[in-house]
Amino acid sequence: MTGSIAIRRATIGDAFRLSDIGGATFTETFGHLYPPADLAAFLQGAHAPDAWTRRLHDPHVAVWLVEDADGTTVAYASAGPCKLPVADLESNAGELFQLYVRGTHHGRQIGSRLLGTAIAWLEGHGFDPLYVGVWSGNHGAQRLYARCGFTPHGEYEFPVGGQRDREFILRRA
Ligand SMILES: CC(C)(COP(=O)(O)OP(=O)(O)OC[C@H]1O[C@@H](n2cnc3c(N)ncnc32)[C@H](O)[C@@H]1OP(=O)(O)O)[C@@H](O)C(=O)NCCC(=O)NCCS
Repeated sequence: MTGSIAIRRATIGDAFRLSDIGGATFTETFGHLYPPADLAAFLQGAHAPDAWTRRLHDPHVAVWLVEDADGTTVAYASAGPCKLPVADLESNAGELFQLYVRGTHHGRQIGSRLLGTAIAWLEGHGFDPLYVGVWSGNHGAQRLYARCGFTPHGEYEFPVGGQRDREFILRRA
């Protein structure tokens, strides 16, 4: 609990809640970068309720939700075994998959606390090193990750519909 903000692990029943916050935060952060059809295709694949249900059933993946005092979901994060295209990837490498805070709640240390929660969970489950993929133009998130010990490691292309984004891969040993 942080003031009126609570971080909790998501459960199977949270698929629709995650679909809503996942779609809303991606759209408000990156929606302007893509043609509507590409954005819609991405959201349908990545943030449909059944995609979240599959993730929530995966015993190797953890998902967290942040709720405001009135129960509104304002942020989420997920982590698990690293799936990034890293050459010679370590067998126990972990990854922060997603870290998103609603724009209305930026700058209130919610992202930092969620990131700390995810890192502690990954380390506690033996994942080492840790990786995160971040859009090359997302300088704010890159500052946050750098502050938490992530350093540049490589890059790859992240597909959003028919578009390919340049993504940096950061690593924390
Ligand atoms: C990145 C993000 C999770 C940070 O969460 P937050 O709760 O706003 O961050 P905190 O209050 O804990 O810390 C602020 C730090 O976040 C980073 N930051 C990233 N985007 C920011 C933004 N738009 N405004 C302010 N800070 C931002 C900065 O490092 C900032 O610290 P600094 O100003 O001293 O450099 C949040 O801004 C967000 O959800 N952004 C949109 C989605 C996103 O980019 N997710 C990461 C995908 S890899």
